[in-house]
Amino acid sequence: MIWLPKVGSHIFLFAAIKFVYCIRGLIYVKLIIMYYNKLELDNLGLASIGSNVLIDKTVLIHNPNLVSISNNSRIDAYVILSGKITICKNVHIAAFSFLNGGKLGITVSDFSGFAYGVYAFTSSDDYSGSTLTGPTIPTKFKKTNEKEIIIEKHCIIGARSMIFPGVKLSLGTAIGAMSLVTRSTLPWKIYFGIPAKEIKDRSRDLLLLETEFLNEQ
Ligand SMILES: CC(C)(COP(=O)(O)OP(=O)(O)OC[C@H]1O[C@@H](n2cnc3c(N)ncnc32)[C@H](O)[C@@H]1OP(=O)(O)O)[C@@H](O)C(=O)NCCC(=O)NCCS
Repeated sequence: MIWLPKVGSHIFLFAAIKFVYCIRGLIYVKLIIMYYNKLELDNLGLASIGSNVLIDKTVLIHNPNLVSISNNSRIDAYVILSGKITICKNVHIAAFSFLNGGKLGITVSDFSGFAYGVYAFTSSDDYSGSTLTGPTIPTKFKKTNEKEIIIEKHCIIGARSMIFPGVKLSLGTAIGAMSLVTRSTLPWKIYFGIPAKEIKDRSRDLLLLETEFLNEQ
């Protein structure tokens, strides 16, 4: 049988409302603790930072002077940003992702996103055996393949995928979870697998929603 308070039900209601407000307050406080505030963001020493940017306090930024982040973008817990990185508007980088931009850089354009644990790196050692490898070795003893990565607008990269140096994800590309992207993609296609292959077309309906969304801003 369900217990329903008859006597003093207004006290019960008051307690319930108070409880809801406490929980809301706790969530709000948690958000404040999780993300840097405006002053803290300004003190990170980034090359540039837009408005309404959220960066979790656990994010590791190796070369803040090479990192630019535009309006309304969000970077979640335990992400590592290294080297030259340009993050445009309304970009989301989910937890545990790693972006190594090196000298040439990674650009993530408007409305694109990395799901959990996506790795993108612009340089890789020569694995053929013809040179030495690793960061402890002087450059004259090794041959590093270093190429820029470009993620165009409206790309989405599924969890635990990997993006190799020199890849350009063209406008509207979707990459399925756990994919290995070794080559550039065609616009408005869905790819997945190891190595990632084109599977089917991706709808462009989201462009109408983009216009609607931007008109509301
Ligand atoms: C690629 C993706 C978008 C395809 O979705 P979909 O169009 O609904 O395709 P389906 O789920 O019907 O899968 C079609 C086939 O491809 C396979 N497949 C789907 N995604 C795959 C992937 N990432 N890698 C390998 N195979 C995959 C399915 O097992 C299925 O195989 P089957 O026909 O032999 O049964 C989706 O599977 C995906 O990977 N989404 C990303 C999820 C993610 O990372 N989210 C982040 C958390 S927010």
